[in-house]
Amino acid sequence: MSEAVQLWPESSTSTCAADSLEAWMPGILQRTERALDRYLPSTESLPTTLHEAMRYATLGGGKRLRALLCHAAGELVGADPEWLDGAASAVEMIHAYSLVHDDLPAMDNDLLRRGQPTVHVRYGEAVAILVGDGLQAQAFAVIGQLPATAAHKVALLQELARASSSLGLVGGQAIDLASVGLVLPREELERMHRMKTGALFRAAIFMGAHCGHAPMDPAVHRALEQYQCAVGLAFQVVDDVLDVTTDAATLGKTPGKDAQDHKPTYVSLLGLEAARELAEQLGERARSALLPLGSTATYLHGLVDMIVHRIR
Ligand code: IPE
Ligand code: IPE
Ligand code: MG
Ligand code: MG
Ligand code: MG
Repeated sequence: MSEAVQLWPESSTSTCAADSLEAWMPGILQRTERALDRYLPSTESLPTTLHEAMRYATLGGGKRLRALLCHAAGELVGADPEWLDGAASAVEMIHAYSLVHDDLPAMDNDLLRRGQPTVHVRYGEAVAILVGDGLQAQAFAVIGQLPATAAHKVALLQELARASSSLGLVGGQAIDLASVGLVLPREELERMHRMKTGALFRAAIFMGAHCGHAPMDPAVHRALEQYQCAVGLAFQVVDDVLDVTTDAATLGKTPGKDAQDHKPTYVSLLGLEAARELAEQLGERARSALLPLGSTATYLHGLVDMIVHRIR
């Protein structure tokens, strides 16, 4: 194994006081909820119903995996925690918007999300469309407001814009909708998953790493590139598995939806056991990618288990 790379100076401002994921995570989750609360428009600002619905869509209930990955990557480079809060909030807002639109009748037509009625069920379809539009714009506004240098903000904005674009999340969603009833070849299924889900995972990880003050160490860049490639796909493979294996109360969304809607998934293509096995292999690949980073990557390492072995 190659020698661990020195990743942050002794005088780092990192929040890395805890040495295990279990000890570190509650603090990050708490600061993520606070940051989202702070960055979302208040329900006292007009239009109040739209802002209430944006908050309903975003606050409470999400696992915040993207925020955790963003902070964990930021830890590697001794990033400023306040910048990480902004980057993580922006990614979670894009994610929340994508869920609101994903659930719309014109897309997956889902009634349940994070254990609650979906936004269009609760507020109506028109409001749900506008919630997505508002959250997407707000995500970019959050980055614009950060007390970071112009160069850092441009790097963050580019990363988030690329992931959200028709070459990333939105393009993946378009392929998903156009693939209903089809049996996709494996490469095409993988490309769809990498676009609709993997792209935002990549952004979460690289935005965290971009919050470092120094240019990114090439060894870190290489490791994160391989890591994101594995965890991004693993996440959606597990999502496909959970759709088949988990009940609504645990999942917080309607199970069995993919088969009901004739969506091509890793389960429909490979079968349940092979899909599970693939997720394990991708998890192993993600852990291997972190080897050159040594113990500095403890949190990213722990998050692999959360992604592969989650139950919702
Ligand atoms: C669900 O994502 C949507 C997909 C990209 C498959 P998550 O499972 O991360 O959703 P929350 O944020 O925890 O609700
Ligand atoms: C959605 O994939 C990916 C997004 C970009 C939102 P799914 O349609 O499988 O997500 P769930 O299962 O509804 O959360
Ligand atoms: Mg969908
Ligand atoms: Mg869906
Ligand atoms: Mg799904």
